[in-house]
Amino acid sequence: MAETLAFPASHVRLGSSAGQPATRHDGPLKVTGAATFAADNRPDGLLYAVLATAGIARGRVTFMDLAAAGAHPGVVRIITPANRPPLAHDPAEKMHRLNFRIEVLQDDTVRYAGQPIALVVATTLEAATEGARLLAPQYANEPVRITFEDSEMFAPEAVGPGAPPTLVKGDLAAGLAEAATTTETRIETPFQYHNAMEPHALVAAWDGDHLTVDMPHQAVGVARADLAAYFGVPADNILIRSPFIGGGFGSKAILVGPTVLAVLAAQMVGQPVKLALRREQMFGPVGHRGATRQHLRLGMDDAGHLTALSHDTTATTSRFDDFVEPASNASHNIYASPNMAMHHTGARIDTGTPGPVRGPGEATGSAALECAMDEAAEACGMDPLAFRLANYAETDPATGKAFSSKALRECYAEGAARFGWAGRPLRPRQMRDASGMLTGWGMGTAMFPCPMFNAAARATLRADGTALMESSAAEMGQGALTALGQIGADGLGIDSDALTFSTGSSDLPDAGIAGGSGHTATAGNAIFAAGSDAIRKLADIATADPASPLFGAGNAGVVGRSGRLHRADDDSRSEAYADIMARAGIASIEGNGTGARNPASAEEYAMFTHGAVFAEVKVDPDLCQILVTRLVGAFAAGRIINPRLARSQLTGGMIWGIGFALHEEAVHDPRTGRPMNADLAGYHIPVNADCPSVEALLVAEDDPHVNALGIKGVGEVGITGTAGAIANAVWHATGIRAARFPIRIEHLIG
Ligand code: MOS
Repeated sequence: MAETLAFPASHVRLGSSAGQPATRHDGPLKVTGAATFAADNRPDGLLYAVLATAGIARGRVTFMDLAAAGAHPGVVRIITPANRPPLAHDPAEKMHRLNFRIEVLQDDTVRYAGQPIALVVATTLEAATEGARLLAPQYANEPVRITFEDSEMFAPEAVGPGAPPTLVKGDLAAGLAEAATTTETRIETPFQYHNAMEPHALVAAWDGDHLTVDMPHQAVGVARADLAAYFGVPADNILIRSPFIGGGFGSKAILVGPTVLAVLAAQMVGQPVKLALRREQMFGPVGHRGATRQHLRLGMDDAGHLTALSHDTTATTSRFDDFVEPASNASHNIYASPNMAMHHTGARIDTGTPGPVRGPGEATGSAALECAMDEAAEACGMDPLAFRLANYAETDPATGKAFSSKALRECYAEGAARFGWAGRPLRPRQMRDASGMLTGWGMGTAMFPCPMFNAAARATLRADGTALMESSAAEMGQGALTALGQIGADGLGIDSDALTFSTGSSDLPDAGIAGGSGHTATAGNAIFAAGSDAIRKLADIATADPASPLFGAGNAGVVGRSGRLHRADDDSRSEAYADIMARAGIASIEGNGTGARNPASAEEYAMFTHGAVFAEVKVDPDLCQILVTRLVGAFAAGRIINPRLARSQLTGGMIWGIGFALHEEAVHDPRTGRPMNADLAGYHIPVNADCPSVEALLVAEDDPHVNALGIKGVGEVGITGTAGAIANAVWHATGIRAARFPIRIEHLIG
């Protein structure tokens, strides 16, 4: 057995600040407008850049009216493939798995609609906008390939950011042959774009070979390294400031072409340059979720136990890179079947390269899997919850490993009880409300992995007993400042108002990637360790000082709390941090910590957040309008650092699930390949009226293996289970199974 993880020093404990439902530290800044986002920066000499983007999806730019654009008052520079200086790193060469091939005006080819084809720099935003319009590009068009039918299929070497494309266990054909009942489910999911509230924006300024970039980013350390490579300067010459991020959803976890172009423009003109993408420019060069076609086959024996489970996905990707939505991987780790087969096929079309979007793979795959499970339950004549209870795995089906912890049964039980699932009629179209609306109940299992990245943090305890915690964490609306600050206060054994938490800048210790729902786990462990390290040093000083009431207690014999060290065996004997440091004549004590996966634990255990989502929908029997009237999710996510924020993350994820089930879809014109709804009027997302009641229950769970603090992720798990639960509720209301997401009125008209 891998040992249970704990920090060697026991002189600080989680639980004073961590675990409390603190409100967001940055809330007042946000609501008063005092929080500074990237585009709010206006350094002296600032110039404004505007992208000109391709109006076709495939072909070549043959002409741009540089004379007209250049003659427009205020236009300073027009950057095109003809005058774009070389970069130190070829943008077609991949550096790492989250570095996608980008468009930085390397040539005149057009590979998707919305691709940058020029950048116009001017003294005002208006002049740059008009300059870009005056370019009036002409094209040599080639036939566009934007559908699965027109795509070029290929077998990907990897899916998502580097996962194996295939999992085969046992003998699928034999498992299907021996089944008493089999089902086959085909589901399509659409193109989705991240659509964070804050579009990608940056202000770039060079001073000689030193670069400062204000931009929202989910991983400033990675972005700094990538920029250093593209511009051939040491990473230490680059400062990225990202104090607030107006939503990322994965698109701000990668370095995108427009960012590199704006940095290049600032270098060319020798002045600071701001580039803020317009909403429609978010539908192209900054990633999206590819469309999928999924095919699942399930076999069940007489008792309703799975004998076979297969999940095949075909997902669109670009012509020039290879991110394939790893939807089939969502079927790896939940349900036990002796025979499993999961595969992926890539489908090259004329779009930008997809990337990670809110539960990449888990969202799309879980939506299809939970629909398939519902169909299988129906085929077996079983209640959908009973069917899942009969089939959920006690050990990870993909690896055979034990789960580091698993409270899925409790999630099912607590969610079902809260929702009132008992007594649900088995057959569809059995329930109507007082106004005659068809009413249906459905459910889905939620699951998300618990990745950890590599994070570092530095704690400085000051002579006055206050402290500074530094780590380049990403506050993107999820509450990282608050939750990580709570961990920092406990790590130092001080009250949270005595802590200054410095984040969001690449010159701080690297907090790793705020993605994969692993930020609190990764950065949190680094922060706690850094605080703990400082207090260990303080304890050494105090326990060795004959003048201290703690003298002789031994380092592990003292506990820090509210800025005082106490003897573990006699709480009445204590001394303030400030007094210990004053007597020792020390101005500050520094502690350092890191956070990363313990490889031995990962070797032995499979690590996931689990949950169960229950949905009620009402469907107008005449108009077929669908409303999700109730959502109840129950989630076991290890130690909850801040129940208020965790609930907010989980309900937010469930609302993404509503959007997935009923709203979100980008539609391309098949003739031009252009997205036809590249705005928030046409790209539908749920609003308050679409979500009358969304509840997330936090199911108690203690995971001693996932990391030293027992933290799992809460960011993305809420979307899983939810889309399927809603589709299953729609079936229960109407008797119609979803064949594609989002489910629309016309799919329910007979
Ligand atoms: Mo998330 S798609 O890992 O930012």
